Amino acid sequence: MGAANVDKYKSNGSTAGDLLEWVDARFPLMALWNEHLAKYYAPKNFNFWYFFGSLALLVLVIQIVTGIFLVMHYKPDASLNASGVPVAFASVEYIMRDVPWGWLIRYLHSTGASAFFVVVYLHMYRGLIYGSYRKPRELVWIFGVMIFLALMGEAFMGYLLPWGQMSYWGAQVILNLFSAIPLVGNELTLWIRGDYVIGDATLNRMFSLHVIAVPLVLIGLVAAHIIALHEVGSNNPDGVEIKKKKDEHGIPLDGIPFHPYYTVKDIVGVVVFLMAFSVIVFFMPEGGGYFLEYNNFFPADPLVTPPHIAPVWYFTPYYSILRANTVNFFWIDAKLWGVIFMGLGVMIFFFLPWLDRSPVKSIRYRGPLFKGALGIFLVSFFILGYLGMLAPTPGRTLVSQICTILYFAFFLLMPIYTALDKCKPEPERVTG
Ligand code: HEM
Repeated sequence: MGAANVDKYKSNGSTAGDLLEWVDARFPLMALWNEHLAKYYAPKNFNFWYFFGSLALLVLVIQIVTGIFLVMHYKPDASLNASGVPVAFASVEYIMRDVPWGWLIRYLHSTGASAFFVVVYLHMYRGLIYGSYRKPRELVWIFGVMIFLALMGEAFMGYLLPWGQMSYWGAQVILNLFSAIPLVGNELTLWIRGDYVIGDATLNRMFSLHVIAVPLVLIGLVAAHIIALHEVGSNNPDGVEIKKKKDEHGIPLDGIPFHPYYTVKDIVGVVVFLMAFSVIVFFMPEGGGYFLEYNNFFPADPLVTPPHIAPVWYFTPYYSILRANTVNFFWIDAKLWGVIFMGLGVMIFFFLPWLDRSPVKSIRYRGPLFKGALGIFLVSFFILGYLGMLAPTPGRTLVSQICTILYFAFFLLMPIYTALDKCKPEPERVTG
């Protein structure tokens, strides 16, 4: 229903029109509809990179809906059942084997976790190439980075719930990192774990955080993200501000109403995404061991450490950064440096809007220095991700150290290379 159609409904005296008027007198339904859809003017030159925001929304909904059904059957209980298997692990097996369609709900949720990161990484990369983090979208970006952090927490805690070997030992590695913090580290770790070892108390609190606390935060942040975006308006592949050129009605010359143009266009992205997603859910839900790890098909056993502990693929670049720190330096031991650098690896994204000094936003008009730096950053990120899945060797550690330096150099040297770069002039209007 476009804006014009809505007005038609309101004035034609039909039952739908009357109902709409009744609601509108009590709740700003049409105002919201118009502000965010029918009269939200988005640049007319969005390309496929602009699918990933709406796809991230779709995956959020998939995760919440499938999560609600999983919670109906899952039990966050680390005690052993009559067969000697942890109740939590057995409840996931029960969902897979006995609950009607349980396997589908679980695979949608586990594949959804990986899909979330695929979509969000691509969405962030779009922001990088088109300079969408730059003024006036700094807050859109900041809310985005907060979403990214919350998503990492959410995925980590969700992975603990099946209480398999990887859930247990992955949590062991990550929660132990807090003990590297000076003075309060051990006390803090104890407080987070809720016990002297990872156990039932840990599982219960991770469950609580995973199913209610973090999802609430995520939903709130996503709302803030979109409200902030609609306040300033969307960027586009040319990085040109369409609000600078308006017609006599105050409508951007290069803008088109989000609805119906982009709601319909986004359906194309949704269909393609759902096809790829279904192929994985139905034919390769384990994703070759990358989405569901081999070791997590064994129940958690505190007495048997798996020979090789690696996080799920989306954490591996940061896991590599953690492991790349091997020297004690300035009274701080290597483990703490690892934790600091891993944290900074994510936090540094917050500062991006102020590190970039380029006169243009989009990669289309940037010079060779930015393009080269982005290319090196991307390659380093992939290498770090790959190495994070493997057991460390001296050679691999050296490569991950080099890639860690290149990763940070992209951000820290940005004020210099973006200021020196030879950019092309940005056009006055979007180029179609
Ligand atoms: C649950 C996760 C997320 C959801 C549901 C989400 C949703 C959206 C939506 C619907 C849009 C508008 C459509 C589009 O431009 O693609 C958008 C734009 C944007 N998002 Fe996100 N987002 C998420 C995560 C992130 C993250 C992690 C970042 C960055 C760290 C980010 C940065 C941005 C930026 C900069 C824009 C404006 C892009 C432009 O106008 O060119 N978002 N987001």
